[in-house]
Amino acid sequence: MANQKMNIHWFPGHMAKARREISEKIKVIDIVIELVDARAPYSSKNPMINELVRHKPRLIVLTKQDMADDRYTKQWVQYYEEQGYQAMSVNLKNFNEYQKVIEKCRCVLKEKMEKELARGLKPRAIRAMVLGIPNVGKSTFINKLANRKATVTGNKPGVTKAQQIIRVAKDFELFDTPGVLWPKLDDEHVAKNIALLGSIKQNILPLDDLFIEAMKYLSMHYPQLLKERYQLEIDLDDEDWIIKTFDHIAKVRKIKPLRGETDYDRVMELFFSEINDGSIGRITWETPLCVKD
Ligand code: G4P
Repeated sequence: MANQKMNIHWFPGHMAKARREISEKIKVIDIVIELVDARAPYSSKNPMINELVRHKPRLIVLTKQDMADDRYTKQWVQYYEEQGYQAMSVNLKNFNEYQKVIEKCRCVLKEKMEKELARGLKPRAIRAMVLGIPNVGKSTFINKLANRKATVTGNKPGVTKAQQIIRVAKDFELFDTPGVLWPKLDDEHVAKNIALLGSIKQNILPLDDLFIEAMKYLSMHYPQLLKERYQLEIDLDDEDWIIKTFDHIAKVRKIKPLRGETDYDRVMELFFSEINDGSIGRITWETPLCVKD
């Protein structure tokens, strides 16, 4: 994911431009496909999405289901459904999932399309647009449907290319570039989770704070994964647990000491890369209970 890390700054001008472009496109689409990361389905949402999308039908798609904890993914899908949205989870590495998304869009719009036909309008394809913050899988989604390997995704704020609408099925069309939105990084909980997803450079936050928070969370929610990966058991009541955790990982993973001391930076680097690539296991960083929307 390294090449995807967001090291860009969202300036008010960029945000205004992104909003303007999306507001324009919204007029000609039937449904918004909002992608969020299943590992943090609240933190990976744009704060202004409701205002931007207004009353257009919207499907919230939790991507990277294969990297998230199934128990919480189910709860999150239910959480968004209870809020009145259509929601589903997918693994975009699996081609069948794309058809499921298209099928769900068809279901959401069935009544609308039938009404159009009943009014004597010509049959037409559903038109959709993909939206989301960086790294949630927007270009993976569009490229796969467009049957191409790579594209200019406009992943930089305010950068666009000529928009095209591509037909991906007889009755389904898609804008070929996604709407790229910003995350709510001024919220500390969100910034921490987004950093843990690997969507932004982790160093926007003090790395040791991020490491400590992540370890606390894992020891409470996923002690088994820590045990399996690092043979690590954390006792949060032990006032030396942080230093012991560093020392333990360094020892287990044979990280060479630096001037006679544990190489803390290398330990963190290893840990974050294993978090990002999923090798520690399937982790969800927030539950519907811990957020208020
Ligand atoms: P973006 O346009 O929203 O910024 O995201 P993009 O499609 O570039 O996806 C970001 C990374 O997430 C890519 O990995 C992509 O393969 C991965 N990804 C997207 N959806 C899923 C999913 O459902 N499951 C898993 N496991 N990964 C997913 P990358 O390492 O940057 O690229 P690549 O080497 O995989 O191509």
